[in-house]
Amino acid sequence: MRWSGVVKHDNAYFPRKKITVVGSGNVGATAAFLAANKELGDIVLLDVMDGIPQGKALDMYEASPILGYDVSVTGTQDYADTANSDLVVITAGIARKPGMSRDDLLATNVKIVAEVTANIVEHSPECIIIVVTNPLDAMVYTAKQVSGFCRKRVIGMAGVLDSARMRSFIAQALDVSITDVSALVLGGHGDTMVPLTRYSTVGGVPLSEMLDASSIEKISQRTAQGGAEIVELLKTGSAFYAPGAAIVQMAEAILKDQNRILPCAAWLEGEYGINGYFMGVPCKLGGGGMEGVIELDLTPDEKQAMQASLQSVKTSKEQVDALGAF
Ligand code: NAI
Ligand code: 2OP
Repeated sequence: MRWSGVVKHDNAYFPRKKITVVGSGNVGATAAFLAANKELGDIVLLDVMDGIPQGKALDMYEASPILGYDVSVTGTQDYADTANSDLVVITAGIARKPGMSRDDLLATNVKIVAEVTANIVEHSPECIIIVVTNPLDAMVYTAKQVSGFCRKRVIGMAGVLDSARMRSFIAQALDVSITDVSALVLGGHGDTMVPLTRYSTVGGVPLSEMLDASSIEKISQRTAQGGAEIVELLKTGSAFYAPGAAIVQMAEAILKDQNRILPCAAWLEGEYGINGYFMGVPCKLGGGGMEGVIELDLTPDEKQAMQASLQSVKTSKEQVDALGAF
C-alpha cells in the first residue's frame, strides 16, 4: 500500500495551539501531563537541566497511545523551539523546603523569571503568560515588567489553587461531594490571602448556614496555610498535583476561549481601590487572557483583610524593585 499523506502536520492551515511550560520540575511536568491529557495543544517543556525536559516529554508522549491523547510533547533547552507559543506557563525556579516562606525564594527566583520572560517574549511576542513561580505576586510583577505586555497577557496562578484547597476542606468537613462546593480566595498568595467565606456555597446554600463560625474560621486558616501543610509533609519540596491542575484549568479557559470566572492574580488598575499591583481577584479568563476583573462589594472586614494582603504584596514588589534585576 502507498500513502501519499506522509507529510508533516502543516499547522499553517489547521493551527493547533502551542503551549510552552518553562521549568519541567514537579509543577511544570504535572501541568504538561494534565494539559496533554486534555489535548489543549502541542506542548514544549523547557528546562535548564539537560535531558530532564526531553526525558519527561518523551515519557508523556509514550503514554499517549495508552491514554489516547493526540498531541506532541517535546523537551528542550532551546527557546527557539518555543517560538510562536500561544500560551507560556512559567514554573522555573526553586521551590520551598520546610521552614522556608514563599518570600525566601524571591532573590533567586526573580533573576530566573526575568531571564525566562525575556527569552519567551523574544520568541513568542504574541503569547499569554501564566506565572506560577513563587513568591507569586512578586514573580508575576517581574514577568509583567520584563515583558512589557498589557495586563490581559500576564496572569498569576494562585487563587484557583487556594480556592480548590478551601473547597476540599469544606467538602471534607461536611462530607459532601466536592462538585457541590464553591469557594473564593482573593488577595496575595501568602499567609495574608483572603478566603471569602461569604461567597462560599454548598449546593447554592451559603456556607454560614451549613457550618458554625469556628469551623469556618478553622477552614480559612487551614486554607491560608495549605501550601505549608504540604511542604511539611513532603519535606523536600512543595505541592504540585493541585497546582498543576489549577494551571490547566486556567490554560483551558484561555485556549478554548471559555470566558470562565476564576480567581487569578491580576494587575489592578483602580479596581478594589488598588492601582499598580497584582492581587488575587475574580477574573474573566478567555481567548484574550485576563479579559476583565469582577469587583465585589466587600464588607469593612473584608476590605481590611484585602488591605493587609496588599501590604505584603507591596513589600515583595519593593523587594523586587530593590534587586534591580531588570
Ligand atoms: P521544581 O524544583 O520541581 O522545578 C523547578 C524547575 O525549574 C527545575 O526543574 C529547574 O531546573 C527549573 N529551572 C530553574 N531555573 C531555570 C531557568 N532559568 N530556566 C528554566 N528552568 C529553570 O519546583 P516545583 O515544585 O515545580 O515549583 C516550581 C515553582 O512553582 C516554585 O517556585 C514553587 O514555589 C512555585 N509554586 C507556585 C504555586 C502557586 O500557587 N503559584 C504552587 C506550587 C508551586
Ligand atoms: C503552594 O501553595 C508552594 O505556593 C505553593 O503550594
